[in-house]
Amino acid sequence: MRQAAIKSNYQHSISISMSLSQLLNIFSSRYGDDGVVYSAPGRINLIGEHTDYNGGFVFPGAVAQSITAVLRPNGTTSVNAYAADLDLQGSFAIDDPDGPQQTHLRYLYGVVREMKDHGVAVQGFDAVYGGDVPLGAGMSSSAALECCFATALNDLFGNGRLDRMTLARIGQATEHKYVGVKCGIMDQFASMHGREGSLMRLDCRSGEYEYFPWHPDGYRLLLVNSCVRHELVGSPYNERRQSCERVAQLAGVETLRDCSWQQLEQLRDRLDDTDYRRARYVLGETDRVLAVCQALQQDDYEEVGRQMYLTHEGLRHDYEVSCDEIDFLVDEARRCGVSGSRIMGGGFGGCTINLVRDDRYDTFTETLPSRYKSRFGVDCQLIPVVIGPGARRIMDLEQ
Ligand code: GLA
Repeated sequence: MRQAAIKSNYQHSISISMSLSQLLNIFSSRYGDDGVVYSAPGRINLIGEHTDYNGGFVFPGAVAQSITAVLRPNGTTSVNAYAADLDLQGSFAIDDPDGPQQTHLRYLYGVVREMKDHGVAVQGFDAVYGGDVPLGAGMSSSAALECCFATALNDLFGNGRLDRMTLARIGQATEHKYVGVKCGIMDQFASMHGREGSLMRLDCRSGEYEYFPWHPDGYRLLLVNSCVRHELVGSPYNERRQSCERVAQLAGVETLRDCSWQQLEQLRDRLDDTDYRRARYVLGETDRVLAVCQALQQDDYEEVGRQMYLTHEGLRHDYEVSCDEIDFLVDEARRCGVSGSRIMGGGFGGCTINLVRDDRYDTFTETLPSRYKSRFGVDCQLIPVVIGPGARRIMDLEQ
């Protein structure tokens, strides 16, 4: 298993370096030959979904897919950025109080403003960026973008003095204040702290985290991208969060992490059914993360998978963030004897994460794409998971 992981890492690094050379070419044709290159990854999450903003546990890992940026200070007070994958060029003045309206620039503007609020004297810069984190797949391409630029600007203008957790929080604040998604900390945490071959368990209440080497002998993790996205500008996500906050407030606790099953049942008559079911999912998910940690200590991957299916049931019926396409993918996984499968990330489309025993892998991957296509008329995308490193400087160009 270990050897297989190393080999696929190597293959992946080849495809990254090809896109890196494209980025470098674009950069040099627009801005010249001096620049620095930074990269930050997307993430998977084994279990612990919608628990981060409830003060609970998450179990993410950084993936090999990442966003890479080539940058150089330009001696002005403006940022010029080219999103190579989207073929979008834009500029904004750092001190513009409103900032740009185009979504791709909002992320950069938010990071710049937040860095400044943390005392980093960000100056103007030119940048070209792109990557291979699929957009809208629930793999956190936006967190990768924020963490890539936060890491770069911290080095270029702040002498590296902000720590990784602060940079993660800068990414999260960007989503809250400049993009309008009231996300938790999981995605940015994973992108900043990822380590090759390890998953991480983060306690979102205390901020403590631990690395868990991930070498599941006889099993593989596979993402299936449904290639559909039903989300309407972040509002259903924010509504879930509001439900949780209402219940926590009634229970007299800061977050649902501190609400017991007994308290929830006592409150039941005072809650509307939707809020009750949202909270029931969150309390159940805390129990499931702990069950998974215990199962991992015993190398019991069947139990890990069982908990993943239970999470999906909760996300489908109580939290209501699944959709027909995703439910179909999970049902197909079950039919093919896949050990565990569930929707991953914020929901409303995107990917399923699947824990697949080696002897089930071929049947699953050979039958799924055509069955999905004939049911929905859309191609799904199979993405083998390689656990990679967190945000980092990759190289310096010739000065
Ligand atoms: C999105 C958010 C995260 C987290 C997940 C659900 O990815 O950005 O903070 O809440 O959804 O677990």
